[in-house]
Amino acid sequence: MPQNAGVNPQRPRARSPRPPTGAPPPPSAPPSGAGVDEAAWLDVIHKMDEVYSQLVADEIALETKNAELEQSQQFIFSLLAAMSDVLVAINRDGRIEETNAALCVLAGAEDSALRGTPLAALLAEDAALPKLAAALAQADAGAAGGAVVELPLRGAGGVAVPVDFNITPRRDAAGRRVGHVLVGRPMGELKRAYHALREAHEALKRTQQQLLHSEKMASLGRLVAGVAHELNNPISFVLGNVHALQRYGDRLTRYLEAVHGGGDADQQAALRRQLRIDALLADLPSLMEGTLEGAQRTADIVQGLRRFSVVDREQHAPVEINGVVERAIHWVRKGTAPAFTVHWHAGEPCCVQGSAGQLLQVLMNLVQNAYDAASEHSAQPTLWITLDAAPSTLTLTLRDNGPGIGPENLGRIFDPFFTTKPVGTGTGLGLSISYGIVEQHGGSLAADNAAEGGARFTVTLPRVACP
Ligand SMILES: Nc1ncnc2c1ncn2[C@@H]1O[C@H](COP(=O)(O)OP(=O)(O)O)[C@@H](O)[C@H]1O
Ligand SMILES: [Mg+2]
Repeated sequence: MPQNAGVNPQRPRARSPRPPTGAPPPPSAPPSGAGVDEAAWLDVIHKMDEVYSQLVADEIALETKNAELEQSQQFIFSLLAAMSDVLVAINRDGRIEETNAALCVLAGAEDSALRGTPLAALLAEDAALPKLAAALAQADAGAAGGAVVELPLRGAGGVAVPVDFNITPRRDAAGRRVGHVLVGRPMGELKRAYHALREAHEALKRTQQQLLHSEKMASLGRLVAGVAHELNNPISFVLGNVHALQRYGDRLTRYLEAVHGGGDADQQAALRRQLRIDALLADLPSLMEGTLEGAQRTADIVQGLRRFSVVDREQHAPVEINGVVERAIHWVRKGTAPAFTVHWHAGEPCCVQGSAGQLLQVLMNLVQNAYDAASEHSAQPTLWITLDAAPSTLTLTLRDNGPGIGPENLGRIFDPFFTTKPVGTGTGLGLSISYGIVEQHGGSLAADNAAEGGARFTVTLPRVACP
């Protein structure tokens, strides 16, 4: 810390009393008339007077300068004391020449004890010495903005406090390097807070992943229920047909054996009637056709599902939106809402760039929510879906005949975990995930209540040319 003592070495001593102007010559002076006349004395006295005035003026100027110096020193002192960053000035040998209050507090030592000690003595670990040396060299080499280095200082309680230092060379008036200035910020608290924050963030991310996973499993569950329902129908009539074919096969075998066994024509005709061979033959084409159709439908369903997973992996492909809406309605109906009336007319092909699987997830969420709300509210749950295609955007609007969204909930329905459904029914993640997906596709998802009643969801997406 700056010492105030001795700051004013040139300060003149107390002013001497001014000799009276025009006083008689000093007693040791030869009496007038002994060679020096009165005029000469007057001249000397006048000169003395002038010199004295000059002396007084100089002294006043010096005092003013001194006061200014003290003021600026006080100012620098207050700056150093007020700085929350630590400051150390070292000489060419690395010994401390100047410190500030923040460093004294951090190191738990008086300014006077720190002055003159090597900076290296303040380091908490010897391993940091090469780092300090390298940073000093880097600062000397003229690194822009000085050299930056993190050094562990020995803190008041003996604990190491990491400090981020910025080191710049210090020069004298002639521009010669006389040492370095280090300004640093203790990072201990900040680093601890940062680590705690990062851990919390990681934990949050893990939980979010788990929740996303459980929401995915829930959507998958709905989809699988729909797929199972969808497959059940064709598979059951394929099975029925195959059983019938098996029976027909037995009858045909019996008849053919009789024919080849060489019985008479009447017996063969009787057997043909008994085994209803003609009806069997007439029925065969439709049985085969039905079986083929059932198998074909099964293959189509599987193919449709496969197409989604493939497009999902490719991520960015043009997706035809009419088809996505159609499939969303289809799967929600197959899953939980067979009696859902949906007013929807597919328009001409209209594409957006993105993932078909994700867009299907959004639409299925919206259709499922509409069904959940409308079926609670009305005996005839109904949904109206329209698609407006402008040259560069498309707008899907879904309005239902449910109770609508309470004004107090309008601002919260897109929040993760917000649900008004009973525990175990809703995850409260559907809309939040859908919102994210639509945003990733460069669009927006909004909700309000329709004038006719019911909730209205609007999906806007950028349109691209269909391939
Ligand atoms: N069509 C709708 N009509 C009325 N309320 C709705 C509608 N869609 C969503 N909501 C409200 O938004 C909430 C959140 O929806 P969502 O994120 O899909 O989660 P969940 O369906 O699991 O509750 C629902 O619980 C419901 O209160
Ligand atoms: Mg939902």
